[in-house]
Amino acid sequence: MKNFTSVNDITDLEALLASAQKIKAAPLADNALGQHKTIGLLFFNPSLRTRLSTQKAATNLGMHPIVMDLNADGWSLEFEDGAIMNGSKSEHIKEAAQVISQYCDIIAVRSFPSLVDKEKDASEYVLSAFLKYATVPVVSLEGSSEHPLQSVADALTITEYKTVKRPKVVLSWAPHCKALPHSVPNSFVKIMQLADVDFVITHPEGYELNPEITQGSVITYDQDAAFKDADFIYAKNWSSYSDYGKILSTDTNWTISSEKMALTNEAKFMHCLPVRRNLVVTDAVLDSPASIVIPQANNRTFAAQAILKKILEDAK
Ligand code: CP
Repeated sequence: MKNFTSVNDITDLEALLASAQKIKAAPLADNALGQHKTIGLLFFNPSLRTRLSTQKAATNLGMHPIVMDLNADGWSLEFEDGAIMNGSKSEHIKEAAQVISQYCDIIAVRSFPSLVDKEKDASEYVLSAFLKYATVPVVSLEGSSEHPLQSVADALTITEYKTVKRPKVVLSWAPHCKALPHSVPNSFVKIMQLADVDFVITHPEGYELNPEITQGSVITYDQDAAFKDADFIYAKNWSSYSDYGKILSTDTNWTISSEKMALTNEAKFMHCLPVRRNLVVTDAVLDSPASIVIPQANNRTFAAQAILKKILEDAK
């Protein structure tokens, strides 16, 4: 593995999850692998889990992490080739990516979409520029249209908690007061398509994800029908993709409640976090034994460590 910016970069999901499980059992076993190596964690947006778990993963591998909030601490970056830089942007990504590559053996970047310019967001111009100009491996800490490290943690969690060989996994839209990106659901869909699960997506009309990503997956507008016999409910809000970035519904009938969970096969409740209580999901569900959001967040470390380990090994 050279870079990890999409679920598409996973060549063998089973082997990756087995590696993550092995790492979880002995997190410091490969402590020498990253010795004298540095990872730069560059954030254009806020983070709790991704920032801390990736630092933890890198440290477990013996790496030295450098974390930078690019909006607060860096020069304002220009990404457009050929731009006449007589405005607010002080440094071009061409220099910045090459310079950071001299300090870091891996560059990891978080850059959310605008949710205004669909074409620009789809181009993943920030991650693409790092891929183009950096001379070291690049890892996504969540881009415009994918959050692949999250999805590896999600798949690992399902592997750990499943009680049948082929569990039914439901990705359910849930209401939210802000327009949110499609990155988490997109990567979750992609990784569930690689996994041995019975996968169903449910959302209100108008909330169809990118059809190029969901093609082949079962989609229903009937949340109650989707929940029947489910072993895992993965809740997530996202804004409209067709009416790009818009909030079309805040219908609290879609909130994950105890009544909704009662329709399932005693399903486990999952969410990537952060989650808005009593909007996306009720306190009763989040505080119940069915909720596995805390161990799911814990798995972010081992998912990230499995990816960093593979990149370090393949770079040898
Ligand atoms: N799930 C997730 O990516 O959390 P953070 O935004 O806190 O990193």
